Amino acid sequence: MKDKVCIVTGSNSGIGKETALALAEMGSKVVMVVRNKERGENARSEIIQQSGNDSVDLMICDMCSMDSIRRFALEFMNRYDRLDVLVNNAGAVFNKRQVTAEGFEMTFAVNYLAPFLLTHELLPLLKKTASSRVINLSSGLHKSAKLDLDDLQSESSYKSMNVYRNTKLMVVMHTYELAHRLKDTGVAVNVVLPGFVATNLGRNTGSMMSRIMFGMMKPFQLSAKEGAETPVYVAASPDVEGVTGKCFAKKEIVETSETSYDTELQKQLWDVTTHLLGL
Ligand SMILES: NC(=O)c1ccc[n+]([C@@H]2O[C@H](COP(=O)([O-])OP(=O)(O)OC[C@H]3O[C@@H](n4cnc5c(N)ncnc54)[C@H](OP(=O)(O)O)[C@@H]3O)[C@@H](O)[C@H]2O)c1
Repeated sequence: MKDKVCIVTGSNSGIGKETALALAEMGSKVVMVVRNKERGENARSEIIQQSGNDSVDLMICDMCSMDSIRRFALEFMNRYDRLDVLVNNAGAVFNKRQVTAEGFEMTFAVNYLAPFLLTHELLPLLKKTASSRVINLSSGLHKSAKLDLDDLQSESSYKSMNVYRNTKLMVVMHTYELAHRLKDTGVAVNVVLPGFVATNLGRNTGSMMSRIMFGMMKPFQLSAKEGAETPVYVAASPDVEGVTGKCFAKKEIVETSETSYDTELQKQLWDVTTHLLGL
């Protein structure tokens, strides 16, 4: 991985931080993309110290804001002339329905629209770099999701964990559709189910119920380092070279939900999304 340039979003905590650390340990140039400078700087110092690699950059982007994502992508492409790995890791679940300044429901914006747009904006550089890899973080919860194309932003009813699982199904479907569209371009796109991992997810933004649930489950959860093993494997292992449009868990290719393979639905979701994002 030496001299490869890797972006990890949401890398100040949890799975993202461990992914950034592991890639830095392999000698990559790691660009940590975070929304909070102070939290980002603290994590960056730890990663540099632990990895002994000082090629760790910090860039700021709020994944709730499509404008911020567009500005970040431009700044990144001015600063770097290659992008080998993009790990779309940032994610959140919000207790109550909230709408961003651009009019998008927040969980939908951060978990689904953000990786969709960020990948789209960085595609010229991903295509220019030989054998680049995009890794999207989904969740096993996508299996019990229900995709309603007429209510993607949960206007009729908002139940935080249902909304979360729906956005994670959209991530899987987007991965498959994008991999299909990028066939033969040298850009591989895969999705990862990291397992049930003890992180900050839902701690600050989830409902009281989800906080209690996460707390109770802690003894059964993987560590963040364990949770990062599969994203790191898909980002860096030679075993994965040329593999695209697949889902990985525990470093193996796994099946996802039946709905996720519906190619007609994948196309419809793509069209609605590009329309929403004005692409
Ligand atoms: N933990 C699990 O059991 C589990 C299971 C399946 C999938 N996942 C997925 O794994 C990924 C990583 O989550 P995690 O478990 O490591 O949780 P985490 O510790 O809460 O990390 C989430 C990261 O995303 C960042 N983030 C959230 N909203 C953002 C925004 N608007 N702009 C920029 N960054 C933002 C957070 O930054 P702040 O610190 O500033 O909030 C944090 O760095 C997520 O996509 C999650 O859905 C987790």
